[in-house]
Amino acid sequence: MTSSKRILSGVQPSGDLHLGNYLGAIKNFVSLQKEYECFFCVVDLHAITVWQDPEQLADKSRDVIASFIASGIDPKQNVLFLQSQVPQHTQLAWIFSCVARMGWLNRMTQFKDKAGKDKENVSVGLFSYPTLMAADILIYLATHVPVGEDQKQHLELTRDIAQKFNNDFKTDLFPIPEPLIFGEATRVMSLRDGTKKMSKSDLSDYSRIMLCDTNDEIIQKIKKAKTDPHPLPSNLQDLNKRPEALNLFSIFASLNNLSTEEVVQNYAGKEFSIFKNDLGELIVEKIGPIREEIKKLLADKAYLDNVLKDGKEKATIVADSVLKDVYDIIGFAKP
Ligand code: AMP
Ligand code: TRP
Repeated sequence: MTSSKRILSGVQPSGDLHLGNYLGAIKNFVSLQKEYECFFCVVDLHAITVWQDPEQLADKSRDVIASFIASGIDPKQNVLFLQSQVPQHTQLAWIFSCVARMGWLNRMTQFKDKAGKDKENVSVGLFSYPTLMAADILIYLATHVPVGEDQKQHLELTRDIAQKFNNDFKTDLFPIPEPLIFGEATRVMSLRDGTKKMSKSDLSDYSRIMLCDTNDEIIQKIKKAKTDPHPLPSNLQDLNKRPEALNLFSIFASLNNLSTEEVVQNYAGKEFSIFKNDLGELIVEKIGPIREEIKKLLADKAYLDNVLKDGKEKATIVADSVLKDVYDIIGFAKP
């Protein structure tokens, strides 16, 4: 019943995309599209687990779609769509919230990080978020899920849900999806603090490179990126003890499709400033053209809306048929 190699992944429209989203996820989507049947969605329902301005939400979703296409994802070969336009995701999410156990969700570290001390006051959706993510994946019977390192635990939960559903209902409907976490920058860190993840919600603009940053902004942000006073390391062991240097080296390696070790060899013993100059130029060379393409695409709203309409139709065909099977398996009365 399951297609042999199908991908689903999602990105939230909760802020402008940054280099972490690009290197941890989107760049990998681009390389996987040849080999897999791919569904890429903008997870706008996940975004509203925290407050989103209604005036901006639709535009932000279009920004993500434009970033996908500008990065090299072909909208004709792949299904690009908005999560909120395929209601079967939420229908399956409810069912999964009856399959997943409280104890499983209580272990989710992303919830603990996001809720912080305000646990009583955050939305119920922020807590049950991973059951919707499991539904996003399994409503397409996806077998593989490319994500950054931070999503690994949510993927494990998705696997647990698929397994429990299959066991409880004695079916093999759902595949047990595999995470695809690869590349040299699976967890890009803040430019201000090498121990914190680069994120859309960091208060400091200088903590991240945005896909829409100008060339000058990119160069400035890399110049100001936190470093340490030592010359550059000559082996991986030394690099691993220096979080800021490790982060910048991983970014360099990933953008150039090199291993981090090769970058260490090229810069061993040199000054940080030389490396930072080269890194700034490299980011400009790789991200600059994507930024320009995003601008062009955003100027053509009708084109983007057409991509989304097409994506919604294709996604709905699969999602509807899988949901019907699920309803049947659970034993709901037929309409
Ligand atoms: P989000 O912006 O949280 O919707 O994330 C979209 C995708 O980008 C997911 O696959 C994340 O794992 C990935 N991602 C987000 N932040 C980072 C980061 N700092 N480093 C690597 N991947 C990331
Ligand atoms: N939770 C993911 C994130 O914050 C986004 C996401 C939602 C997702 N649904 C998904 C990723 C399904 C992969 C597959 O990054």
